[in-house]
Amino acid sequence: MNSLNMTYWNNLAQIQSKLRSKVEKDPWRLAFHQMPETGWLNDPNGVVHFKGVYHLYHQYVPDNPEGGLVHWGHKTSADMVHFKEEEIFISPDKDYNRNGAYSGSAFVKDDEIHFFYTGNVKKDGDYDYIFNGREQNTIHIVSKDGFTIDFEEVVIAHEDYPEGFTDHIRDPKIFEKDNVYYMVLGSRALDHHGKILLYTSSDLYNWQYKGVFFEREKEMGYMFECPDFFETDEQDVLIFSPQGLKPTLYEFQNTHNAGYYLGKADWKTTQFNPQSVFKELDRGFDFYAPQTFEDKFGRRILWGWMGLGDTKPEYTNPTIARGWQHAMTLPREISVENGKLIQRPLSEYQVLRSDKIEEKVILDREYTIEGINPHTFELRINLEKETNQFSIHLKEDTVLSYDNHVFTLVHGPSGYGRSERSIEIKDLTEIHLIADTSSVEIFLNDGEYVMSSRVYPKDIKDTIIFKGSAEFNLEVWNLSNE
Ligand code: FRU
Repeated sequence: MNSLNMTYWNNLAQIQSKLRSKVEKDPWRLAFHQMPETGWLNDPNGVVHFKGVYHLYHQYVPDNPEGGLVHWGHKTSADMVHFKEEEIFISPDKDYNRNGAYSGSAFVKDDEIHFFYTGNVKKDGDYDYIFNGREQNTIHIVSKDGFTIDFEEVVIAHEDYPEGFTDHIRDPKIFEKDNVYYMVLGSRALDHHGKILLYTSSDLYNWQYKGVFFEREKEMGYMFECPDFFETDEQDVLIFSPQGLKPTLYEFQNTHNAGYYLGKADWKTTQFNPQSVFKELDRGFDFYAPQTFEDKFGRRILWGWMGLGDTKPEYTNPTIARGWQHAMTLPREISVENGKLIQRPLSEYQVLRSDKIEEKVILDREYTIEGINPHTFELRINLEKETNQFSIHLKEDTVLSYDNHVFTLVHGPSGYGRSERSIEIKDLTEIHLIADTSSVEIFLNDGEYVMSSRVYPKDIKDTIIFKGSAEFNLEVWNLSNE
């Protein structure tokens, strides 16, 4: 065993205390979104509701805001609004995970949480690390409380994966169907197509390879990361994060993108059959590697990583200099309604609301609301006529516009290189925006489309200005987490 020693933990504590003093001074710290205490955060992992507590684990590099050796950070909440920072849950301190405790998930059975994750190992030598040079072991942890690890073992060692794949096989997600446990894993096949692998188990401890659950011959990218699968009353949903997708006019514009198919799994052939096109889950600049879970109220809740790795040179996140980088989206409740995947912010955040303004606006050229708290607020407009052509100006230089059936989000310099994303929407009926100090999340048409983006205003304005022509009911709230 190759444990991280006392020196490692002492050094980490020292580095964290330096970073913490920078982070605490940063006005771009988020007020009600989950961010790393210090350093770097990426994918949500092992999200679960267990014995009345919501657990959010996540990819975490506490000592470096630019990424590095990943652990599983841990936050808990009773109400999904206020979170407590817990001790690191998984550390890369074993031979089988020594270069990173990569992404994974949680599954509750008989009063225990079963976690599955990927142990990343980079072999020393002259490797390209695309085809080979790595191990990505699938590891099983059992915990009675979500804080202590009672049992840990490798359930699929790297050398036992099927033939025909590069070394990139990772990010296990577990679900149950008719008393059988299933595990989906993302992969990059030797022919550079992304594929989703399926394993089955009757006890969660012994796993057998079943075959490819989903693949596509063409145009779907070279690697599928972070698969997720669940059933709804209407259709099944397969979510994953393909790398290498070609951008279309308005979709898949980010370096990497996350999306979904609606369809049906065939449990005889154990394959997923899509009945829709692949759609991007979030059309903003900052969204990747989402994960879902069902809470005890039966809600399907999704968290996404409100960030993206590797987007240089066009974007450098200015919070790196302030000791931290990246965040989670707000948790969203997702459902399939009339053949559409709908995402709505989980309603609990509404406890943050105060100072409501409500008005009916008939916009003719320009209309300004003054005196809002521009750092943390919520804006909802319900449009009455179809003939709307207008723009909304908020924060420092962020503009939302709707023109000729195209909705566009534009950042000026406060986007630090993020400029413009658009969605074609035939009939825009609602814009619902939730702004934190350095983020905006925009839900359109009651959750049919979402755009998430980080934004870093310096000269923020306490106004929201509407320009153009439109008729709408307007609601604005201050959001405060004090
Ligand atoms: C997605 C991802 C996963 C991997 C993890 C490593 O962002 O690349 O595939 O497990 O991040 O941090």
